[in-house]
Amino acid sequence: MAGLKGFFHGRLWPLAVGMALAGVVALLFGPLAFGAVLAVAVGAAIFLGLSAPETASESALQESPPALSPLARAVIGQLPAPVMLLDESERVILINDSMRTLVGWGVENKHVSAVLRNPAVLTAIDQTSHDGEPATVQFSLPVPIERHYQAYVARVNAAPPITALLLHDLTAIRRSEQMRADFVANASHELRTPLAAVSGFIDTLRGHAKDDEAARGKFLDIMSVEAARMRRLIDDLLSLTRIEMNEHVPPQNRIQLDHVVREAAAALSPLARGDHITVEISTPAHLPPVVGDRDELIQLFQNLIHNAIKYGREDGHVWISCGQTPEGQIFATIKDDGEGIASSAVPRLTERFYRVDVKRSREKGGTGLGLAIVKHIVSRHQGRLQIESRLGEGSSFTVLLPPAPTESGGKSELAPAVTEML
Ligand SMILES: Nc1ncnc2c1ncn2[C@@H]1O[C@H](COP(=O)(O)OP(=O)(O)OP(=O)(O)O)[C@@H](O)[C@H]1O
Ligand SMILES: [Mg+2]
Repeated sequence: MAGLKGFFHGRLWPLAVGMALAGVVALLFGPLAFGAVLAVAVGAAIFLGLSAPETASESALQESPPALSPLARAVIGQLPAPVMLLDESERVILINDSMRTLVGWGVENKHVSAVLRNPAVLTAIDQTSHDGEPATVQFSLPVPIERHYQAYVARVNAAPPITALLLHDLTAIRRSEQMRADFVANASHELRTPLAAVSGFIDTLRGHAKDDEAARGKFLDIMSVEAARMRRLIDDLLSLTRIEMNEHVPPQNRIQLDHVVREAAAALSPLARGDHITVEISTPAHLPPVVGDRDELIQLFQNLIHNAIKYGREDGHVWISCGQTPEGQIFATIKDDGEGIASSAVPRLTERFYRVDVKRSREKGGTGLGLAIVKHIVSRHQGRLQIESRLGEGSSFTVLLPPAPTESGGKSELAPAVTEML
């Protein structure tokens, strides 16, 4: 109660009200409005923090640099958005922790131009501290990782005046805009290629191949393959969207991971036989269950096993094993003895449409969405995906999922492993 009294007595309530208002405005008008309202709130807190009766005498308020109440300093220090306060001569009075991660230590009392190098932000600060008009400017910091910000500059007309700089991080918004644009570009490109092939063959069949029986049969076969590719792409896109939409909803059912893995492998055994690949499955006789969505888990393992067959060696081997780690996680590993993946490509494998060898993937009817789907399913199941690979030595993909809670809360003993060839 005393803290609350101090809070109101210290006149920081405008900051609290401002932040709450900023939240509401952000919901209604988006994050840019959030920054504007927050900037006003910071300004109000500084102004009232400066004039709080118990924190500074009238004469102290006239001193330079201006005295901020400890509470105002503490609250600004904790704000998640980077904040910098400047005196009349544009020297740094205060920065919060969030701003410190951007500009570093030892900036107090330095002129702002020695701290921030961005000309647009410096011009905005200059202008606002002279004419008192608030300013907004967007800028980017290219290193170490490119980040984008919206800067708000406002002058607080205390005695002496203070200029407040507040940054709003736009990096996540920019990234998702870029991802959306890339996604649309990739999806339309992937659809355009088979569509162009189908349209081309329609024209050929109408034109010079009209009466050529043999050519007609061949072209219709190709058209059917291309149409199937488009259908698969659309199915995968829909599947990805559905999984993403449900990603925050935890699955409900108790699932035996070894059963799901066996089912996925059985469905792909004709393909493996076609490529003369031996699939070997080894699972313990009793594996503790996981909490999962059966259809999604089957889709996940079909993707991984299908990849192991597609990118495996002809006459090669695929080893599938399930078990429990010493920490209690339930795992399934799919290992092949195929071409392997260069280590530089491994971090990008789960990106949508990313393919190490585009030509090979297309030849095998791949859309480049399989591992993106795998990643989202694993994330919905609160699990982890581990990829190990060496060029020329094959790859191994391991899915780790938390075990379903047991009634006793204990860990079950594993029975000896059962190995089976498909
Ligand atoms: N087991 C593997 N061995 C070697 N490369 C692999 C393996 N699994 C995946 N890759 C590489 O990763 C890329 C992305 O795999 P992903 O499953 O996302 O797409 P895809 O198999 O090409 O198409 P889709 O799964 O949609 O049919 C593949 O194109 C391939 O280059
Ligand atoms: Mg795949």
